[in-house]
Amino acid sequence: MEKLIVDTSSREYPVYIGEGLLHQSADLLAPVLEGKTKALVISDSNTAPLYAETVRTALEPLLPVHLHTLPAGEQSKSLEEYEQVMTACIHAGLDRHSVILALGGGMIGDLAGFAAATYMRGISFVQVPTTLLAQDSSVGGKTGINHPLGKNLIGAFHQPEAVLYDTDTLSSLPDKEWRSGFAEMIKHAFIKDSNLLSRLRTEVQSTEDMKKESLKQFLRQSMTVKADIVKEDERETGVRAFLNYGHTLGHAMEKASGYNNLTHGEAVAAGMIFAMKLSNYLQYSNWDIAYETAWFTALGYPVEAASAFEPAALVETMKNDKKARAGELTFVLASAPERPFLAKVKERDILHLLLEMKKGGS
Ligand SMILES: NC(=O)c1ccc[n+]([C@@H]2O[C@H](COP(=O)([O-])OP(=O)(O)OC[C@H]3O[C@@H](n4cnc5c(N)ncnc54)[C@H](O)[C@@H]3O)[C@@H](O)[C@H]2O)c1
Ligand SMILES: [Zn+2]
Repeated sequence: MEKLIVDTSSREYPVYIGEGLLHQSADLLAPVLEGKTKALVISDSNTAPLYAETVRTALEPLLPVHLHTLPAGEQSKSLEEYEQVMTACIHAGLDRHSVILALGGGMIGDLAGFAAATYMRGISFVQVPTTLLAQDSSVGGKTGINHPLGKNLIGAFHQPEAVLYDTDTLSSLPDKEWRSGFAEMIKHAFIKDSNLLSRLRTEVQSTEDMKKESLKQFLRQSMTVKADIVKEDERETGVRAFLNYGHTLGHAMEKASGYNNLTHGEAVAAGMIFAMKLSNYLQYSNWDIAYETAWFTALGYPVEAASAFEPAALVETMKNDKKARAGELTFVLASAPERPFLAKVKERDILHLLLEMKKGGS
C-alpha cells in the first residue's frame, strides 16, 4: 500500500492507495470514524452495485451505515440531486457528528463533498474514489455541483478527512474512463514531476499499459503533485492555477460538445497539446510537437479534436469561462516540463492557431 499525507491549512489527512483497501476500510478509517454517530455512503448507479455492499459490510461493525444511490453521469451533479441527498441525510438521521462517504468518481466526490460541506453547516467526509480521474478530484477539497447555466458554479472548499483509493475498483472501469483519468496524471507530471513524466513516457504507450503494476506508484507521485500544490495554495490564489494546464481549451471543447462525445480527460489532453503549440508559437518554448502528438495519439487521445469546432465559438466560450478574468484569455503555458507559467494571450493568436488546425495545417 502507498500512503501520502495531504497537509493543508484547514486539515491534514491521509491518502491510502492500494489493492483490497475497501475490505480494510474499518481499520484504515477507524481514526476518522471514532466517535461518529452514523455514516451515509453516497454512490452512483454504476458503482453502488459493485462496491457499496463491501463498504457497508466492512464498516457496519463500527457504526450504522446508510446508502444513497443516484443515477450515474454528470447530469446528476445537479441542484435536484443535491436536494435528494439532503433529504437522504435527514431521513437517515445524520447529525453534526456523522460522516458522508463518497464512493464513486469525481461526480460523486464533488456532489457528496458539497453535501458534507453544507449539511448542518458542514460534517465530516471521506473520499473513496473509484475512477482514475478521481486521483485529481478526491484531493484538494474543491466540492460542488453544476447549474444549468454552467459547470461547478455552486460549491465550497471542504477537505475530506481521509482518501481511501482501492485500485481494485479500477478493474471495472471502462477504457475511455482510464484515458480520461490518465490525462490528469500526465498533466501533473508535466507541471511538477519530470521523473514521473519520463516514467510515463517509457512505461505507458497504450491504454492497456495504464493498468500496469506500477500504477500505484504513479498514482502516489501524481497525487503528491496535487497535494503539494494544494498545500501551497489551498484556495487557488496562485500556483493552484497551474492545475488548469490544458483546461482552458479543454473546458471550451467539453462545453461545445455538450459534455457528451468527449470525456474530460480527452478534452484536457487535446488542450495540453494546444498549450504546447501556443507556447511554441509565442516563442516561450521549443516543444517537440510531433513527438508529443505521437505519444498522445498512441494513448488514444483525439489531439486534433478542436478542429471539429468553430474557432471563434471556442474563443467566445473561453472568454466566458468562470476562471477568465474580465474577458481576458489567460493560459497556463509551460516553457519545459516543470516550468508552467500563466500568460495573457491575445485572442488573435489563439484564433490563428485554431484556424491552422482546422485547415489541417499543423
Ligand atoms: N473537485 C475537483 O478538484 C475536481 C477535479 C477534477 C474533476 N472534478 C469533477 O469530477 C467529475 C469527473 O469525474 P469522473 O471522470 O470520475 O466522472 P464520474 O464520477 O461521472 O465517473 C465516470 C463514469 O465512470 C463510472 N464509474 C465510476 N467508477 C467506476 C468503476 N470503478 N467501475 C465502473 N464504472 C465506474 C461512473 O458511474 C460514470 O459513469 C466532473 O464532475 C468534474 O467536474 C473535480
Ligand atoms: Zn481536470
